Amino acid sequence: MTTPTFDRSIKIAPSILSADFANFGAECRAIEAQGCDWVHVDVMDGHFVPNITFGPQMCAAIRSHIKGVMDVHLMIAPADPYLEAFVKAGSDIVTIHAEAGPHLDRSLQHIRALGARAGVALNPSTPESTIEYVLDKIDLVCVMTVNPGFGGQSFLEGQVAKVRRLRAMIGERPIHIEIDGGVTPQTAPMVAAAGADVLVAGSGVFKGGSVDQPEVYGANIRAIRAAATAALSQT
Ligand code: DX5
Ligand code: ZN
Repeated sequence: MTTPTFDRSIKIAPSILSADFANFGAECRAIEAQGCDWVHVDVMDGHFVPNITFGPQMCAAIRSHIKGVMDVHLMIAPADPYLEAFVKAGSDIVTIHAEAGPHLDRSLQHIRALGARAGVALNPSTPESTIEYVLDKIDLVCVMTVNPGFGGQSFLEGQVAKVRRLRAMIGERPIHIEIDGGVTPQTAPMVAAAGADVLVAGSGVFKGGSVDQPEVYGANIRAIRAAATAALSQT
């Protein structure tokens, strides 16, 4: 496992939901070689979200192909019975959805007790106040800027106000604000200026490239990072 150090610099986390499903090991190595910061892994159960991806065994299989942070986003309900398996699979960060279970505080304590960093994801319709009383139990809040389930959807601009409010709520606490869905060089500046530091991008990183043409991944990563960083220098 990799222990992430905390800082608010812009981090790009490609979502392997947009990678070649028959070649995850090589895809993870390629995006890291091309300069990504974290690898984002989208776990879907066909119940909490209308799509199915993969489980803890797949996470364990790709772990040895990832040198840095494995950031696992659980879109599953219930999540509690599987937390241990995902931490044992080598997840550095395990993010659960606030909407996925009745005992958010307990689930977050469980993730930390297992030795991973704990994240909470908020669907577009979930207000930021949902996490007001668990702020001291989280390392990351993930603002969904699409309805979870699929890559390649359009960015929901109304979520930028939520990011701004979360940034104010968090204050000096060491909590990352992650954006998930529709991140491109066009949308990244809005969320970076509002206070986000981790940008998940699936289609925005993988489009046009392949493991045989990984330099396209690098160019896509640099374009998103440059757009976000430029917006920061204007705030
Ligand atoms: C959506 C997933 C996202 C998704 C983002 O349910 O959580 O991580 O892969 O994909 P893009 O960047 O294509 O919107
Ligand atoms: Zn995700």
